Amino acid sequence: MSVLDTDEVRRLYDRRAGSYDLLEIGFRALGFGRHQARLIEGLGLSPGDTVVDLCCGTGVNLERLSGAVGEAGTVVAVDLSEGMLREAQTRASQAGLGNIDFVQADVREFNFPAATRAVLSTFGLEMVPGYETVVARTYAALPAGGRLGLLGLKRPEGWPDWLIEAGVALTSPFGVSRDYEDFRPWVAANARFERVAYREYLASAAYSHLGRSVASGDAERSVG
Ligand SMILES: C[S@@+](CC[C@H](N)C(=O)[O-])C[C@H]1O[C@@H](n2cnc3c(N)ncnc32)[C@H](O)[C@@H]1O
Repeated sequence: MSVLDTDEVRRLYDRRAGSYDLLEIGFRALGFGRHQARLIEGLGLSPGDTVVDLCCGTGVNLERLSGAVGEAGTVVAVDLSEGMLREAQTRASQAGLGNIDFVQADVREFNFPAATRAVLSTFGLEMVPGYETVVARTYAALPAGGRLGLLGLKRPEGWPDWLIEAGVALTSPFGVSRDYEDFRPWVAANARFERVAYREYLASAAYSHLGRSVASGDAERSVG
């Protein structure tokens, strides 16, 4: 498998949408529920805020984000895949979340709402060629103090090759391949945002990064 193009990603995740949440159960067992909660807390959201969840998938982050911004706030959930978005909508309506806007879009082209206060992406950007542009556009969209939270998989350091191959094989049904191993969205985030926190998990096979905009993004608004 190689780096997937937009249509291949859409088709793959449309196909996987119905069973994706089984993977979530596995990830929770590995402690990612806790890491996700800590990252969302680090976004520093207040009631009434607007937060964007890029590559939202089946909506694993929606309940926490929705609770953080309250009824007066808005969560904008963005994904390419109609199937994944449909699952996310079902999840939101079952949980009675009334403050979510769903947008089917490529995150590289998505226009952030003017009120965006924070942006989150979990297990998303490390599979997006051009993630640097997404990070740049995010920076441009955020006001000073606005935060970007990232959580995802990365190439682990110091693992024997066979173990890396085994990890890739396990996640390959979701499009993961070694062609993505140099995708490092947290490095792109670090180049623009002031780093608030960086953590590694699973013996360095996963990471979370929390960054804070130190200046108005006006100077970057022409990016992309
Ligand atoms: C591994 S899932 C992660 C879903 C969710 N954020 C989570 O933590 O479970 C990756 C998601 O990214 C979406 N995706 C991949 N490339 C994208 C792009 N360029 N624009 C928008 N969504 C994209 C896929 O459709 C899929 O739903």
